[in-house]
Amino acid sequence: MLFSPKVLAATGVLLSIASIGAAHPGEGHEKRMQEAANARMVAAVNARALEACNARPEVKARKQRAIARREGTFDRLRQKRGLKDESFIHRRDDAAFSKWAAVDHNKTGLLDFNENTPAEELFGSNTSCVLAPDNANGPYFVYQELIRQDVAEDLEGIPLHLEFQFIDVNTCEPADVLIDIWSCNSTGQYSGVSAEGQGGLDSTYLRGVQPTDAEGIVSFDTLFPGHYSGRASHQHIIVHVGSKILDNGTYTGGVVAHLSQLFFDQKLIDLIEQLAPYNTNQIAQTKNLEDAFAGYGATEEYDPFVNYIVLGSDVSSGLFAWAELGLNTSSNWDFYAPYASIWQPGGGSDNPNFNFSVVGTPPPTHG
Ligand SMILES: *[C@@H]1O[C@H](CO)[C@@H](O)[C@H](O)[C@H]1NC(C)=O
Ligand SMILES: *[C@@H]1O[C@H](CO)[C@@H](O)[C@H](O)[C@H]1NC(C)=O
Ligand SMILES: *[C@@H]1O[C@H](CO)[C@@H](O)[C@H](O)[C@H]1NC(C)=O
Ligand SMILES: *[C@@H]1O[C@H](CO)[C@@H](O)[C@H](O)[C@H]1NC(C)=O
Ligand SMILES: *[C@@H]1O[C@H](CO)[C@@H](O)[C@H](O)[C@H]1NC(C)=O
Ligand SMILES: *[C@@H]1O[C@H](CO)[C@@H](O)[C@H](O)[C@H]1NC(C)=O
Repeated sequence: MLFSPKVLAATGVLLSIASIGAAHPGEGHEKRMQEAANARMVAAVNARALEACNARPEVKARKQRAIARREGTFDRLRQKRGLKDESFIHRRDDAAFSKWAAVDHNKTGLLDFNENTPAEELFGSNTSCVLAPDNANGPYFVYQELIRQDVAEDLEGIPLHLEFQFIDVNTCEPADVLIDIWSCNSTGQYSGVSAEGQGGLDSTYLRGVQPTDAEGIVSFDTLFPGHYSGRASHQHIIVHVGSKILDNGTYTGGVVAHLSQLFFDQKLIDLIEQLAPYNTNQIAQTKNLEDAFAGYGATEEYDPFVNYIVLGSDVSSGLFAWAELGLNTSSNWDFYAPYASIWQPGGGSDNPNFNFSVVGTPPPTHG
């Protein structure tokens, strides 16, 4: 979760989920309303900027390339797992959260599709995520993680191939940035942090960093996240602008221009939670609609739910999930992205300046 009771006890910080859910605990109602209005305006401006992008011929061509690439990735992943001839299922393309799925998650069904379904329909991103809202960073960001594509290590869980394409809303061009991901394991524990009950400073599982390519794309091989108290299953993701890649396989510097959390259809989560080792997790599940942080995604413009396709005929065969994400590379949200620790070979160290009081606060541009 953002805050396990153990973390709270360990740090002596007393915050309820409800107070974290409020934009800025302790601030006046008027200020919060103003901030919410501002966030909605920024979302609308970004959405319009991206929509304007879509009219450009080079953007249309890029979208066609994206569809072809996703189709290729899907075939490659199925081949690799020996699923070439199996039927598959996928998220209905017109499914969205809030508008987009929060209101009626029954729209987000797993429907049968087959090899005759046009690639455009399967891998197009029309109604999907073009913007994810900025969201709270949570207490478990680790600075200077390893630059690597495969972050699953030897953990058990449902394989999840993530492919993100980042577009700068200022230019409509692919963004030249570093993407940093982390999530908890199937039983709800994070690596890389010293907080009690988590994996410890010498663990790195389900964390990694990748530079975008010329098309603004990164991919990761990870595992479907588990859950912990008070939070729906989610995938953390932040974007660094202007970082320098180091010879030793990490990076330094830059600013955090986007921080968000991606969510998954409830129906998909429910299916996976029935499987081992997810089903050994004794912590009560929090549904998407009960998660205050998923709510940041519930605006007209933002859809923080990834598209996905199951590689074979059941979810244990693994998933391919993708999103096209707009970001403003001129943003600087460093203040909202404090890191709990710094990764170092053989075991990292706690950040002595970690500001725990902002980890539940999203930037003013949250949805
Ligand atoms: C989902 O929608 C279908 C068709 O609209 C309906 O028959 C079914 O009862 C719904 N299921 C739930 C759980 O709401
Ligand atoms: C995507 O949008 C375009 C333009 O609005 C439309 O022509 C196309 O049919 C849509 N594709 C899908 C899969 O909905
Ligand atoms: C991006 O952020 C910068 C700096 O805050 C701002 O001036 C600019 O208007 C933003 N661009 C868009 C398209 O929102
Ligand atoms: C998740 O991580 C914790 C802490 O590292 C570990 O004790 C647990 O065994 C892991 N769960 C699984 C299923 O690997
Ligand atoms: C890489 O080098 C940087 C800068 O010297 C250092 O801070 C970091 O701990 C090193 N990381 C690894 C994985 O060697
Ligand atoms: C920590 O964050 C709070 C805002 O939640 C701020 O008031 C405080 O100044 C910050 N502390 C430091 C050392 O930056």
